[in-house]
Amino acid sequence: MIRTKNISFSYIEYENTTELEPDDLELVNSARDSAMNAYAPYSRFKVGAAVRLESGLIVKGANVENAAFPSGICAERNALSNSVTNHYDDKPVAIAIASFNDRGITEDFPSPCGSCRQVIAEEEARTGNKIKLILSGKHKTVIVSSIADLLPLQFNRSNLVTILPLQ
Ligand code: THU
Repeated sequence: MIRTKNISFSYIEYENTTELEPDDLELVNSARDSAMNAYAPYSRFKVGAAVRLESGLIVKGANVENAAFPSGICAERNALSNSVTNHYDDKPVAIAIASFNDRGITEDFPSPCGSCRQVIAEEEARTGNKIKLILSGKHKTVIVSSIADLLPLQFNRSNLVTILPLQ
């Protein structure tokens, strides 16, 4: 039997950051703030990410590039490595992402790269929580309720032969 299946998802678009819930706006501002500490001499594209934890704590990350290009790391992965390392049991509930080019905040909202999607998916699997994605451009912001929407049919722990307990 051959079937064609369809995957679709809904997301919320805000025409202006001022329309965001106060907590989400605070997280976007933290992501913008965080981008100020990006080290991006090669791409000149500065990205900031801010992770909100269940406790309300905000953990930041920025992209850090390297002359050996693949050794650089994205803002999202830096922020999540930071939160897991320093606040292991405090689960992420949301991540905001913002980006700047030479002209300031990018008009378009940034969308996490494939590697970052996989890492965010791992964090959802580790904690059992959905992580709200807040992708913010100069005016327009998009909210996606889980990385599962941006990474459908994802590879995760359930694909491994050995089923790992949550730890
Ligand atoms: N970058 C991020 O920090 N996050 C993403 O999701 C996309 C790309 C960084 C990597 C590199 O330093 C620069 O943006 C240009 O690709």
